[in-house]
Amino acid sequence: MEQVAKWLQQSKKTVVLTGAGMSTESGIPDFRSKSGWWRNIDPATVATVEALTNDYDLFHAFYSARFAALNGCEPHAGHSILADWEQRGLIARVATQNVDGLHKAAGSQNIDELHGSLHRVRCQQCGKQATTEQFLAKEPCPNCGGRLRPGIVLFGETLPQNAWNQALYTIETADVVLVIGTSLQVYPVNQLPKMTGGKLVYINQEAAGYEKEFDLVIQGSAKEILQQVNSYL
Ligand code: APR
Repeated sequence: MEQVAKWLQQSKKTVVLTGAGMSTESGIPDFRSKSGWWRNIDPATVATVEALTNDYDLFHAFYSARFAALNGCEPHAGHSILADWEQRGLIARVATQNVDGLHKAAGSQNIDELHGSLHRVRCQQCGKQATTEQFLAKEPCPNCGGRLRPGIVLFGETLPQNAWNQALYTIETADVVLVIGTSLQVYPVNQLPKMTGGKLVYINQEAAGYEKEFDLVIQGSAKEILQQVNSYL
């Protein structure tokens, strides 16, 4: 932890890349650990355009459950520490795979939402924005009558170009990249750590099998590890 604190203080540009493991301590399930969403659901049946097109009832039920899973969930101390580090100039940006909005809610401002956000809803046909309430009520698009869907990246869809370009550029030019709470299973985000010439730190509950690519691996709770690193700053 002390080493991470030292690197943060010496670094001119630090970027943080987070995954679902950053939100489990806020009460939001992740995907691939033992209590994750994909333990009992095949993502291909719900998190694809094919599912949206051919089984809207199941697609709608799954994403309604994901909206419901956000109810009452607040950022934890780890999110607040990252927001504080941004304020203090210790980190430049947070690139996240998470769609729960918790980094923003904690006060982080320089955020790249690489997989979009559950807090945005749009029509699949005409692309017009709609409200979460209209999606949850299973209403057709008010503009064209098409199907409403959350503004997140479904498997097989391209990532938001600006978020991707911004995250890629900052990671490529970073002195330090902290990778927190992700299994690094999903392309292309799992390629980002390889793009940096800077120090690579992996903070995760479980080993992901890529540890040799990292300069430092700390296994454990994202919240507790961030609190410990913070105590050295
Ligand atoms: N502290 C640290 N690590 C944690 C914690 C925690 N409190 N809780 C879970 N983890 C770890 C798990 O051990 C797991 O390795 O976080 C990792 C989460 O991995 P995934 O569940 O695969 O989530 P993620 O890597 O974000 O998935 C990427 O897959 O389904 C798609 O679009 C979805 O953005 C998601 C993408």
